[in-house]
This record gives sequence, C-alpha cells and structure tokens, in this order.
Amino acid sequence: MAQFPYSCIICECEKVTLGEIIYAINEKEANDIEKLASITSATTACGRCRNRADDFGERKRELYIDEILKKLDR
Ligand code: FES
Repeated sequence: MAQFPYSCIICECEKVTLGEIIYAINEKEANDIEKLASITSATTACGRCRNRADDFGERKRELYIDEILKKLDR
C-alpha cells in the first residue's frame, strides 16, 4: 500500500480516503468490514469498493477495502 497516498479515494460513493480507512482500523479498532463501514460509511452505497468480486465496473481498482483489512492483519 506504500505506493498509495493517504489522500487516495478508496470509496468513491462516500468519498472515503485510504488515510481515513487506516485511521479507523488503527485508532478506532475497526477490525472488520462492518465496523469499518459504521465508522467511515465506506462500502455502504454500491459496495464495489469492498473487493474485486463485487466490483461490477469495467475498469477495476488497484486497491480494495478487503485487501486493506487483510494487509493490516485484521
Ligand atoms: S465505491 Fe464504495 S460504496 Fe460505492
């Protein structure tokens, strides 16, 4: 994830940045997708930011929220 700036928008619907997600995981104990969603609202609209399988867009993302949770070992 080092190649992604904290300002990178991960969830376009709710305008949630990578920095907000990392903060919620590290400082607010958002250790699963439900808690992360309740704190940041990420994944609560279309849901395509959660993982590649749920990404219905033609152009796929480089980073998904499930990957961020996994990389931070949550
Ligand atoms: S992009 Fe995250 S809910 Fe739509």
